[in-house]
Amino acid sequence: MNEPRFYELRWLDAAGAVTGSLAIDLLNAPSPLADVVERIAGAAACAATDRRLRTRLVPAPAAGAPVRPVTDYLWGDGAMNGERLRRHLTAVAAGQRPHRFTLRTGVPAEGCDLVGRQGVVADACALLSGGKSLHLMAPRRYGKTSLLRAIAEELRRRQRPVVLLEVESLDRIGTLAVQLAAQALRDGVDSLRVLPGLGAWPPADAAPSAVMSARDGLLEQIRPRPEAFLAEVAGGLADAGAAVLLDEFSRFLFGALAGDERELRRGLARLRGGREGGRGPDLVVAGSSGLRKLIAWHDLEAALGDLEPLALEPLSPQEAAVLVEELFYGHDRPPTQQGVHAVLDAVGVPIPYFLQALVHHALAEHAREIIPSVGPAPPVTPATVDRAYRRRLLDAEGNEFFRPFRLRERGYPDALRPAAAAVLARLAVATGLVSRDRLRAACPGASDAQFETLLAWLHEDYDVGAEGAELFLRSKVLRERWALREAWLTEI
Ligand SMILES: Nc1ncnc2c1ncn2[C@@H]1O[C@H](COP(=O)(O)OP(=O)(O)OP(=O)(O)O)[C@@H](O)[C@H]1O
Ligand SMILES: [Mg+2]
Repeated sequence: MNEPRFYELRWLDAAGAVTGSLAIDLLNAPSPLADVVERIAGAAACAATDRRLRTRLVPAPAAGAPVRPVTDYLWGDGAMNGERLRRHLTAVAAGQRPHRFTLRTGVPAEGCDLVGRQGVVADACALLSGGKSLHLMAPRRYGKTSLLRAIAEELRRRQRPVVLLEVESLDRIGTLAVQLAAQALRDGVDSLRVLPGLGAWPPADAAPSAVMSARDGLLEQIRPRPEAFLAEVAGGLADAGAAVLLDEFSRFLFGALAGDERELRRGLARLRGGREGGRGPDLVVAGSSGLRKLIAWHDLEAALGDLEPLALEPLSPQEAAVLVEELFYGHDRPPTQQGVHAVLDAVGVPIPYFLQALVHHALAEHAREIIPSVGPAPPVTPATVDRAYRRRLLDAEGNEFFRPFRLRERGYPDALRPAAAAVLARLAVATGLVSRDRLRAACPGASDAQFETLLAWLHEDYDVGAEGAELFLRSKVLRERWALREAWLTEI
């Protein structure tokens, strides 16, 4: 009766008040128990150097203390995972609850599910508060949308108005201006209501159909001079001290450049300059480094040349390992260290989307494997990860995960699709770098200018990297998948 079953860790402030605590349920701890307790204590001591830590064995946890099973701090093979315990203890000491990760394959990572990136968020906020405008630069699926949301959250936390708008499906200055105004009003920048055409804008809780018809009406009203309205909106947003975050900005430019290029240039000048003699809001646009080439080729430097590049790199190996490990724990499958390494090795350059996708598949593969077995589930092994990678990611089952990439080339002009296929096919089967000249020779139907545009697109859409005059597919997963399965690379 009343055997001590919980190992309780409490932090006290100088006055002896408890500032944070965690109770570890020792039920199902591997024996000998004393050994486990000693190792927990050791890990805890490392995390608590500057705090007053008290530990004790208790029969029941204190009310309100987060309780974690001891298996949360063991690897799948029973070895102690001291690093994870230290991460949780650091969070608890800072007044947070240990975070349980959820798979977010394909949807932006938010809150604590966003691993790393604190440095980029801090840099972005510091640059913005210094009056700079930014180009958040990364190829597809590196986490741009996730990061824009994190930046927006941080700016709002600092009481700064933020307007976050996805502009992929917009291709005219008029629609950009109207959507920006509509989003700003939805995001609470009510001072815009003094602008012509916005006085009678539906309130925040209006039915979507009311907002839609207001948008259509406004679009019609500003049709003769859309850039003049954009100047008003930009000026109003600058006056309100708002930061404007535009997601998928390269997509907007690709679309808008296919239309009236002069209108685009005038409109962008107003977005940045606001009303005559004034200024526009601080801006963050997201897009790959291909965006810079677009800006240079199409002579958009006057409006966009000052954007400070802020590169979003793949995760660091440590961040990638934490993400993979936490995703397994979050889904109640403590991994082995070898299982985590197998995911990292299979994915290669740690692009968050592929890490999420492979953990997702490894969990599904593992669930299929353990159905016939009884007793505690065996850990996810490298063999399981390997099967998941080949069968579920590279093979037909992976189609869904590559859809965001595959659909991109469908938007390319017909004349460029065969060239895109030729370039990607060659990069996919290459064992190393491929010279631009070789790739150029594989596209006899494209002009030099078309070839350059194509490379900018491929950089944006398929993460084609460059080292001097040589190119490569950065993602091992894309390379292997494209080499094995992408029929469109040869069929068109
Ligand atoms: N730092 C991170 N930690 C955990 N997961 C992440 C991180 N960054 C991105 N992801 C995951 O990677 C995937 C892509 O993220 P996101 O949609 O933000 O990228 P993106 O660059 O905007 O993609 P796209 O180019 O398709 O618009 C999502 O599944 C997201 O949950
Ligand atoms: Mg995105």
